[in-house]
Amino acid sequence: MSAPAEKRINELRAVINEHDYKYYVLAQPDISDEEYDSLYKELEKLENENPALITPDSPTQRVGKDLTKEFATIPHRFPMLSLANSYEESELHDFDRRVREGLSAGEKVEYVVEFKIDGVSINLNYTGGRLKTATTRGDGFEGDDVTANIKTIRSVPLLLKNFEKHREELADIEVRGEIYMEIDEFKKLNTERAEKGEKLFANPRNSAAGTIKMQDPRIVASRPLKIFTYYLLNSKDTGTTHFKNLELLKKLGFRVNSHLKLCGSISDVIEVCSEFEKLRDSLPYEIDGAVIKVNSLTQQRRLGTIAKSPRWAVAYKFRAKQAKTMLKGITWQVGRTGAITPVAELDPVFLAGSTISRATLHNYDEIKRKDIRVNDIVIIEKGGDVIPKVVSVETSSRKDDSIPTQPPSVCPSCGSVLFKPESEVAYYCENTMCPEQIKGRLSHFASRGAMDIEGLGDALIDLFVDMGFLHSYDDIFELYTRRDELIAIERLGEKSISNLLASIEECKKQPFSKVLFALGIRYVGAGVAKKLASQFLSIDKLISANEDEISSVYEIGPSISKSLSKFFEDEHNVKLVGKLRQHGLNFTEEKKEIEENFFLNKTFVLTGSLSNMSRDEATEKISSLGGKVSSSVSKKTFAIIAGEEAGSKLEKARSLNVRILNEEEFLRLLEEGSQ
Ligand code: IVH
Repeated sequence: MSAPAEKRINELRAVINEHDYKYYVLAQPDISDEEYDSLYKELEKLENENPALITPDSPTQRVGKDLTKEFATIPHRFPMLSLANSYEESELHDFDRRVREGLSAGEKVEYVVEFKIDGVSINLNYTGGRLKTATTRGDGFEGDDVTANIKTIRSVPLLLKNFEKHREELADIEVRGEIYMEIDEFKKLNTERAEKGEKLFANPRNSAAGTIKMQDPRIVASRPLKIFTYYLLNSKDTGTTHFKNLELLKKLGFRVNSHLKLCGSISDVIEVCSEFEKLRDSLPYEIDGAVIKVNSLTQQRRLGTIAKSPRWAVAYKFRAKQAKTMLKGITWQVGRTGAITPVAELDPVFLAGSTISRATLHNYDEIKRKDIRVNDIVIIEKGGDVIPKVVSVETSSRKDDSIPTQPPSVCPSCGSVLFKPESEVAYYCENTMCPEQIKGRLSHFASRGAMDIEGLGDALIDLFVDMGFLHSYDDIFELYTRRDELIAIERLGEKSISNLLASIEECKKQPFSKVLFALGIRYVGAGVAKKLASQFLSIDKLISANEDEISSVYEIGPSISKSLSKFFEDEHNVKLVGKLRQHGLNFTEEKKEIEENFFLNKTFVLTGSLSNMSRDEATEKISSLGGKVSSSVSKKTFAIIAGEEAGSKLEKARSLNVRILNEEEFLRLLEEGSQ
């Protein structure tokens, strides 16, 4: 290892970092691409000759070579909250009133208004000025470790600029921001995907979300992702205002959106929101609203948090984009649960980045209520979710040819007579062998959040069901016996079938919680499946549990437990589990060993209101650290956590000599526990 080489390596890294900053953050490069490439190559060469000198924060290390097997989860030091939404001016006044009520009378309040970037939120941890981890929001308490992918985004600094000046106070900080893709880049990516016959992304946000969850950082590096940062969290509490923190973020080398305004009153805020809304269509990226934050950090702290959102910030969502078009017909779609839903077949119309020819009509009651008829001119809208919906009818332009619709009496797929439960609006096909239901179930089973079988998309599922190869989940694992038949199908071929069979084999590694979710049991979504799996640890225990035992699990209610009992009462389903088990799918989970911490195996009681989190959140935190939360104080109670206005439980704790923790102590212990 030579000293001159080390010196030059350090020098080159500093120079390259500076050029990256100028190019990717400021968008003001001052050297040519050739000059940049030659510096980069020189650094690569020196590092190759001196591998011992390679450090993870070198600009050459943005793209790692290793595939991520499965993302590890990392707990968030500060929960990643979401924002309460508002849509009307009056709701912004309500927000302002609540803020003032939470502070002293007559106190001055300033607000910062920013763009609400429509991307994916990310948490960046910088320790000692170096990017240590990048995590997704996850459930708000813990997220996926996507560091390797985020490092490939050149506008994310690997080293903080000007760190020396702030070494002490910024020793360990979290920076929150939004990863997004520009609209043109998204369109380009989709065009390329269409050419390769790959599935298209619905919008720029989905393409950013899909990209940061990819297993191969090299592909991530090739996708044009960017970041805007919008919040600094520092347990040292040195900052004074949010506005100053944003200035500081810029000095540290982060991209901060330039559209931000400091306002002295809520009427100024409202004005800025409408200015921002007007800019919406002229921007190269998508925004779906404005975010309003109390500027003073002390005031933010005093206002605290309710439920899952801070009291000191609110999102003002812009109206969804609308378009008008003709309703050419109404078709009925059969979902995986057998529910029949009406779909509007539209004259194709362009709306917010894509051409729309179908929209949801929700259910028959809704069609009647809105008096939607075929041949009407309808207003459609793309809301927060991807699927467009029909909002209303333009009755003024209705002609004599408008035709009211009746719900079908038989299933449009299998012809069996439909059934409508009294308490529901939907009509159901009760034939579990109905081809459309089978397709829906298989599509759910293979989907990314469930068994994640790459290559087994809807088109292939349709084909295999129609050919009689697939009826039930376990048939997927018999497909290999038909290898030659599958290869012979036009369009498929040897390579795609080999890949498909390999990903079917690979999916057997999915953990029990994902398998449980994949089974498609009503009300058992991904989150519920995770809770059930970690509580019961095996499908056998879950099958033998009664409804009461199931609903005693935190956050599992009676409709979930009923649905589970009903599912396992059906002996076909129990047999199905047996077959899937034989194919090697995971139906057990190891008990997670929780490291020794203050809360482990102790019982706590919560009382009064906490200003930083809701009771549910506090309960969740304690359970995740292996503690128990009980509703009444007894001798078994280890400690009570007393928020503001704690009442009789506090008295009881005092009389029983039970330890009393205030919110501050509780938060400190939580922080220690989750490290
Ligand atoms: S502040 C407690 N600022 O909107 C601070 N969020 O529902 C919370 N977002 O999860 C976030 N632009 O992903 C903030 N300028 C901005 C934002 C922003 C977009 C996203 C973020 C958050 C969601 C809020």
